[in-house]
Amino acid sequence: MKIIAICGSARTGNTEFVLKRILTEAEKHGLATDLILLKDKRIEYCNGCLTCELTKSCNVRDDMQMIYSKLDDCDTIIFGSPTYFDNVTGLMKNFIDRLLPLFSDKKLSGKKLYTVAIGEELKSVNYSVTGYLEHIGGEFGLNLSGDMSLIAKGSRDIENDNEKIAQIDQFTQNIFI
Ligand SMILES: Cc1cc2nc3c(=O)[nH]c(=O)nc-3n(C[C@H](O)[C@H](O)[C@H](O)COP(=O)(O)O)c2cc1C
Repeated sequence: MKIIAICGSARTGNTEFVLKRILTEAEKHGLATDLILLKDKRIEYCNGCLTCELTKSCNVRDDMQMIYSKLDDCDTIIFGSPTYFDNVTGLMKNFIDRLLPLFSDKKLSGKKLYTVAIGEELKSVNYSVTGYLEHIGGEFGLNLSGDMSLIAKGSRDIENDNEKIAQIDQFTQNIFI
């Protein structure tokens, strides 16, 4: 069993902390894990050529090629994104646009999806990030399995908050029972 987490934060912050905590627990349960920090990858914009709708692969040669095969190879995916102006981050949106080659044949169909969304205001986080990621996940045929929304602003807010850490651990337990 393999679990891959995609982190859409532009910094070493809350989203990365939460995803690492979940993956550490996954490893204790014997799962193979992979954390993709989009900020450290070279991922071009989708150029809109639509060639992938025919070829089912992307012409753009960058780090997405490696991510496509990792996504193909896993059973569970976690999308984690901060909220930026009532949306996912540009990094996360750019990554999602580049998933077009996997879309028409529903290549991710049946894999489990969990979402982790973080921001200053719960209303904004739930409405804009959790709602969006779950909608898109459903469009890709992913099996929506759970979501977590957390409040944070400073990059270490969650790491320094025991209540939030307990909330993450509760969420994580539900993934692996
Ligand atoms: C450009 C920018 C826009 C933001 N817009 C929102 C917003 O619309 N709603 C919100 O709740 N938080 C917003 N935030 C706050 C971030 O979501 C928050 O700092 C979060 O903890 C960042 O996650 P990270 O630590 O994983 O990077 C914004 C932050 C930045 C830098």
